[in-house]
Amino acid sequence: MRSIVFKIIGALVLLAIGVFLGKSFSSGPEENTVPMPSSIGYRMAGSSSDTLVAQTVTYDGEIIEVRQGGSIQEAVKAASPGDLIRVYPGTYSENVYIDKDNIGLQGVVIQGEWPTLDGKKKINDAFLYSGNGILIENFKIINYKGNGIMGQAGNNFVIRNNWIIDTGVYGIFPQYGKNGLIEHNVCSKIEDAAIYVGMCDNVDVLHNEVFDNVAGIEIENSRHCLVENNYTHNNTGGILAFVTPGLPIKTTFDVIIRNNFVVNNNTANFGAPGSTVAGIPAGTGILIMAADDVIVENNIITGNNNTGITIVDLATGAPKANDPNSEGNPDRTIILDNIMFDNGNEPTGEIKAIMLTQMDTKGPDIFAYGGGTGSSIRDKNRYRTFGLDDWGAAQITDTKDVRTYMLPEPVAPRSVSTEELGELTYYGVCAGCHAFGNRLIGPPTEIIQAIHNGDPQSIVDYITNPENLRDDYPEMPPQDYLSNEAKMAVAEYILAMEP
Ligand code: HEC
Repeated sequence: MRSIVFKIIGALVLLAIGVFLGKSFSSGPEENTVPMPSSIGYRMAGSSSDTLVAQTVTYDGEIIEVRQGGSIQEAVKAASPGDLIRVYPGTYSENVYIDKDNIGLQGVVIQGEWPTLDGKKKINDAFLYSGNGILIENFKIINYKGNGIMGQAGNNFVIRNNWIIDTGVYGIFPQYGKNGLIEHNVCSKIEDAAIYVGMCDNVDVLHNEVFDNVAGIEIENSRHCLVENNYTHNNTGGILAFVTPGLPIKTTFDVIIRNNFVVNNNTANFGAPGSTVAGIPAGTGILIMAADDVIVENNIITGNNNTGITIVDLATGAPKANDPNSEGNPDRTIILDNIMFDNGNEPTGEIKAIMLTQMDTKGPDIFAYGGGTGSSIRDKNRYRTFGLDDWGAAQITDTKDVRTYMLPEPVAPRSVSTEELGELTYYGVCAGCHAFGNRLIGPPTEIIQAIHNGDPQSIVDYITNPENLRDDYPEMPPQDYLSNEAKMAVAEYILAMEP
């Protein structure tokens, strides 16, 4: 009896303290008064159009809250287009896939505590979206095996304020999307590209910090991209704009790389053997390979031990690639004024050999090699250069007329045919582990073709629920987040592939 009374008194005292604390600190953060991060502050003031991009998709439907112990995926299942899912601090070990349009996912950071998606090195991807108008912001994402945030064919995306560490192959990877914004993210320890814009159009990559990755920011087979105000340091390569042959979209052009810090990108390459980025020499500041109309302006590029900027054709940079439909020369590169010093202190491989033929033991600030026409530079004397003899004088002084490459209005949702869906799923998902004629992480696609010839359903069944068939291969992760339509499309695509 006495102890119960004491407990009640004790509880009342605690309650009183709670009320007292609540009162005296009521100006502190309370969960229901946590402000929604404003989308407006991040855009450049005075942009040529007054429409702020991030406002063009709004989430004014229901607000669905997820707290520690809850499931983000369940919230997505319950959500309708226009809803905002707010995730409170806690650890969520999930793979979240979003196949609806106009869903906002917003972490709520309280007193420095982030909602954290932890893949525990067991789960492949944190966020996978195929919807249009997806927002993903304010999440900490750690320890995944595949991707932190991956998009497949979603237009009008916004990915910002995320903190992504060691999420496997890619950190942020929108693929085949149009009109997107990637800003204010911090990404590290990614074994391929930290920010990988693949087969996209009209994407701005702004104010991100990427470090300790193989590739910092990669613009690949993408058009109309602005890479501005980023800090890329201590990667193997800082910023890359290039064409990978063999993909359904063949070109990279109209890329502005402006106002970035590209510093000390000398980390030894730890990319998976056989991947494109595994060939990037440590010490690469900026790499332009087979991309056209790339403008490099007003960056600070220093301490990159191989070269500051490398411009090469595919024959030099990716000699084994063979795609008759990819034009391999970097044409019309423009280098405006940049600050470059202290690059090339320890050149490696071909650059070292070539520089030695010039009686030089240092790598240059700017190194151009192989084909390409129409390139120009504003003031060659500012830099130590190699291979720029046929470059002309730049006809422009700056790019200030281009405030953004995003579009003032959301574009129509992307609709893809079954064949395109198969191709995209194959290159977006399967090709990370399967190549046509050789072993990657999984067996060659031609072997899959032979085993499953004429029976696409058997591929669908396997990828939905894979079993470990071979002693000398790891287990394949289940692909059950793909829609049935995408599974069948990719199965048919694989069976129809030709060498
Ligand atoms: C993370 C790597 C990875 C990804 C991504 C991946 N696979 Fe696999 N896949 C494997 C591995 C590893 C095996 C071999 C498993 C075994 O034999 O135990 C495999 C085996 C298979 C097989 C079985 C072949 C047989 O012997 O019957 C099929 C079919 C297959 N994959 C299809 C796909 C398709 C389609 C996709 C894309 C939707 C895909 N895989 C994505 C790693 C992957």
